[in-house]
Amino acid sequence: MTSRSRSKYIDPAIAEYAAEHSSPPDEIQLDLQHVTAERTGQAAGMQIGDDQAVFLEILARAIGARRAVEIGTFTGYSSLALARGMGTSGRLLCLDVSEEWTSIAREAWEKAGVADRIDLKIGPALDTLGDLPPVLFDLAFVDADKSNYGAYYDELVPRIRPGGLLLVDNTLWNGAVLDEKDDSADAVAIRALNERITADSRVRVVLLPIGDGLTIVQRVDD
Ligand SMILES: C[S@@+](CC[C@H](N)C(=O)[O-])C[C@H]1O[C@@H](n2cnc3c(N)ncnc32)[C@H](O)[C@@H]1O
Repeated sequence: MTSRSRSKYIDPAIAEYAAEHSSPPDEIQLDLQHVTAERTGQAAGMQIGDDQAVFLEILARAIGARRAVEIGTFTGYSSLALARGMGTSGRLLCLDVSEEWTSIAREAWEKAGVADRIDLKIGPALDTLGDLPPVLFDLAFVDADKSNYGAYYDELVPRIRPGGLLLVDNTLWNGAVLDEKDDSADAVAIRALNERITADSRVRVVLLPIGDGLTIVQRVDD
């Protein structure tokens, strides 16, 4: 594959065709992929795919996102895409527990010229979210510890402006959502969240089978 579409749910030839007809990663993104593989080893598999990255960038730009929050920054691939989509007046709050991994993100943000629009806070995301002033976000992206996904949802929905987007990654959890015998904490948490979102009258939702499942939630109340 020329592009890193991570979806196992899409026919590989179709995924390849789709990648060939999508904006490819630029030199800075390719370099970040390379550096992440070199410096984090197997953990590099946590990066979102190229299709998701350009999708995040387009969504952020399309809704004119000016304030956004990301939970789970790792080495910065998704945040770089969001920051680019948000433009020079955008402000992206990044939450992660790892100084080591996010030091790679900081280098990439500097190279890409987006560092001044990103504020990184190190610590458990639930604590950081709980300490935030009551500001509304245009967009939130969640890609961190799965067992806290329900808690992140509870914290974030009230903080998204009407019409704004909450994007949740890995909502198909490698197909485990369908395997009721899989009672691992992560599978149970993701299954439960998917059920809750579908029943939540405050939002409209679509679960897309790109990457490992990307759920797009839009606040529609108010
Ligand atoms: C799947 S990776 C994120 C990948 C990133 N979105 C990208 O595209 O490169 C998950 C990240 O969540 C972070 N994380 C795990 N538990 C966390 C927590 N309780 N609070 C904040 N971040 C957490 C990890 O340190 C890791 O960097």
